[in-house]
Amino acid sequence: MWGGRFGGGPAAVMREINASISVDKRLWREDIAASRAHAAMLAMQGILSVEDAKAIDEGLLQVAAEIEAGQLQEDLALEDIHMHVEHRLSQLIGDAAGRLHTARSRNDQVATDFKLFVRRAIDEAVLGLDALESVLIARAEEHAGDVMPGFTHLQSGQPVTLGHHLMAYREMIARDRSRFVDARARMNESPLGSAALAGTGFNLDRASTAGALGFDRPNANSIDGVSDRDFAVDYLHAAALCSVHLSRLAEEIVLWASQPFGFVKLPDAWSTGSSIMPNKRNPDAAELVRGHSARIIGDLVAILVLLKGLPLAYAKDLQDDKPPLFDAHDLLELSLAAMAGMISDLEFVPERMRAVAAAGHATATDLADWLVSEADVPFREAHHISGRAVAAAEAAGKALDELTLEEFRAVDPRIDERALPRLSVEASAAARRSAGGTAPERVREAIAAARAQIAAR
Ligand code: ARG
Repeated sequence: MWGGRFGGGPAAVMREINASISVDKRLWREDIAASRAHAAMLAMQGILSVEDAKAIDEGLLQVAAEIEAGQLQEDLALEDIHMHVEHRLSQLIGDAAGRLHTARSRNDQVATDFKLFVRRAIDEAVLGLDALESVLIARAEEHAGDVMPGFTHLQSGQPVTLGHHLMAYREMIARDRSRFVDARARMNESPLGSAALAGTGFNLDRASTAGALGFDRPNANSIDGVSDRDFAVDYLHAAALCSVHLSRLAEEIVLWASQPFGFVKLPDAWSTGSSIMPNKRNPDAAELVRGHSARIIGDLVAILVLLKGLPLAYAKDLQDDKPPLFDAHDLLELSLAAMAGMISDLEFVPERMRAVAAAGHATATDLADWLVSEADVPFREAHHISGRAVAAAEAAGKALDELTLEEFRAVDPRIDERALPRLSVEASAAARRSAGGTAPERVREAIAAARAQIAAR
C-alpha cells in the first residue's frame, strides 16, 4: 500500500518487526466504525461520490461480518489491522476502496481506533467497579455491627467493625471509578482528520466524524492529534491504582484465610487444592489479583517510558502502545470480576474476629478515654494509668476487661464501676461515633450515604 517508491521488498525480519496485526487485530471493530464515519463524511462534503461511499459502507459491513466470523486472513505484509481491512475491502469492492483513505492517514486512524478502544475499556472498568462496589456495600451492611481487630503495623490496635473495614475499600473503589470517569471526559476528542500530522487540504467536517463516533468535539491540534497517548496513560494510571487497591484487598483475603487468622473461609468456588497436600485450600484467585497488579503497574511504566523521549509527531514506537494497554485491560477486567465474586462468596467468621479483637487488651485506649472524660484526668496521665492496668491484667493472667473493680481501684482509685462496661470490644467500637468512625450506626449511615451517591450518578 506504500510500495510506490520502493524497488525491492522488505527483509523477512523487517516484515516481522514491522507487523502489528497479531496485536492490533483487536481494534477491528473500532477501525470499521471510524472508516464508516470517515467515508460518510467524505460523501457529505462532496469529496467522495455517493455511489462510492455506498459501496465502501456496504463493503466495510461485509468485512466486519467476516472478521466477526473469524475469517480474518492475517498477512504480515499487510502490517496492521488498518491495512487488512482496507485490503479486504478492495478485494470485495474493487477500485472504490482506494478512495477511502482520502484525507486520512494511518496516524490519525490508529489514534482514533485506539481512543475508541480505550473509551470502551473505561466504560467496562466502570461497570466492573460498580459491581464490586455494590458487593462491598452489601457485605458491609451484613456485618455493620460485627467486631474485628483493627490493625496498625499489623498489630491488633483497636476494635473496629467489619462493615467499617469493608467500607474503607468501597471508598477506594469509588475514587477509582471517578478517576476513570474523569479520564473519559478528558480524552473524548476525536483525532480523526488530523491526517498524517499537519491536517489536510480537503474540506473535512471533523465535527461530523467526531459526533458520529461519540466524541464531544475534534481535537484542537493535528500534531497533538496523532501523537497524543495521554488517554492511554490516564487509563493505565487509573487501572494501576485500582489494581493496587484490589491487591491490598487480595492480600487481606490471603491473610484472613490463613490458619493463624481464620477470619474467613474461602468457598470452594474460589479455592484450589494442592497436588501433594490433600489438606490445602489455596486462595489462588486472590494471589493472582495481587500478582496481576504488578503487571498492570508494569504496563503503566512501559507506556510512560515509551512516550518520554518521543519527538513530535508520530513515530513507530507508538505501535508499542497497544500491548501494555490490552494487557492491563484484560487483567483488570478479570481482577475486578474475581474480586467481586470472592467478596460476595466469602464466609466471614465473626466469632474468630471478635476473639482476636478482644485479645491483647485492645480496649486500653477506652479506659484512658474514660478517665479523661469522666475523671478529668489529662490524656497523657490517663494513658499511663491504663498502661498500668494492662500490666496488672497481664500479671493476673487476665484480659483487661476481666479485672475486678477492686483490681482497677488498686491501679488508680479514680476508676469506678462506670468504666467497666466500656471495656468490651462492642462498647469500644460503639463509642467511636465521630464522623467517619467505626460505630455501627456510623457505618450504617455511611452505607446509606454511599447508596445515595450511587443513585445520584
Ligand atoms: N500500526 C501502526 C500503529 O499501530 C499504524 C500507524 C502506522 N503509521 C505509519 N506512519 N506507519 O501505530
